[in-house]
Amino acid sequence: MTLLEIERLSKRFSSGSRDVAALNDVSLSLAPAETLGLVGASGSGKSTLARILMRLIPADGGAIRFEGEDWLSLSGADLRRRRARIQMVFQDVLGAFNPRATVGSVLDDPLRIHNIVPKADRRREIAALLDRVGLPADYADRSIRDVSGGQRQRIAIARAIATQPSLIVLDEAVSALDVSIRGKILELLVELQRERGIAYLFVSHDLSVLRAVSHRIAVMDAGRLVETGAAGRVIENPHSAAAHALIAAVPRLVTGIPQGPSHDL
Ligand SMILES: Nc1ncnc2c1ncn2[C@@H]1O[C@H](COP(=O)(O)OP(=O)(O)OP(=O)(O)O)[C@@H](O)[C@H]1O
Ligand SMILES: [Mg+2]
Repeated sequence: MTLLEIERLSKRFSSGSRDVAALNDVSLSLAPAETLGLVGASGSGKSTLARILMRLIPADGGAIRFEGEDWLSLSGADLRRRRARIQMVFQDVLGAFNPRATVGSVLDDPLRIHNIVPKADRRREIAALLDRVGLPADYADRSIRDVSGGQRQRIAIARAIATQPSLIVLDEAVSALDVSIRGKILELLVELQRERGIAYLFVSHDLSVLRAVSHRIAVMDAGRLVETGAAGRVIENPHSAAAHALIAAVPRLVTGIPQGPSHDL
């Protein structure tokens, strides 16, 4: 079964004399509960793909099927309703929030907007979400600026799972964290996937991270998808020049992170 099918997606950016093919005929698919690692040099188009998938920017061409629907033609109330099914975590999402916002309000937003639980149950649901990501319930009353970077990413994950998505897009979600904290966050993500069957599109420039969590890895180079394969195969026996170059740039794979994805597909 396919959860997500991206077909021949393209996107150009033009400003003045500069014209960039950020995405050039990119096709890929994702199964339920699968992690697809997306790697590529800076500027290769990874975040552009993520932003189109989140419906933050339009595509120029191509199609996306998600949960059986023509994802790019959804609009209005249909889009608002279905949006809950794809969530995103990026590098310090919560840094973009008002620093005075409380952790509780950050988690209350998606519950309210998508009407996940009745108002009377929201406080309890927020406590359950915090507990699930390993934080005490009284964190709900803290302001966002009073939590550490690792805790902030836990809260961002809690916010993402609040709407019971089938897909979470992670764009450099652990890149800013210390290695030991990064390992713990990856473990949490792997557990959540096992528990809830969530698929991840995991964007990272860090191959050791991708190896730890991905079932498959897709490699981008200058707007094109140049290689896709089982994670171990791509890392041990890369076919494309772009994958070769990325692997050659890693002195050795970092330890202290879980080995391999949570389950076979
Ligand atoms: N809003 C924009 N306006 C103009 N050009 C853009 C815009 N967004 C992205 N680009 C260009 O599109 C290309 C792809 O950018 P994108 O952010 O998708 O790369 P990336 O793979 O995520 O890179 P990084 O690893 O640095 O995050 C780059 O050349 C970038 O400069
Ligand atoms: Mg990016």
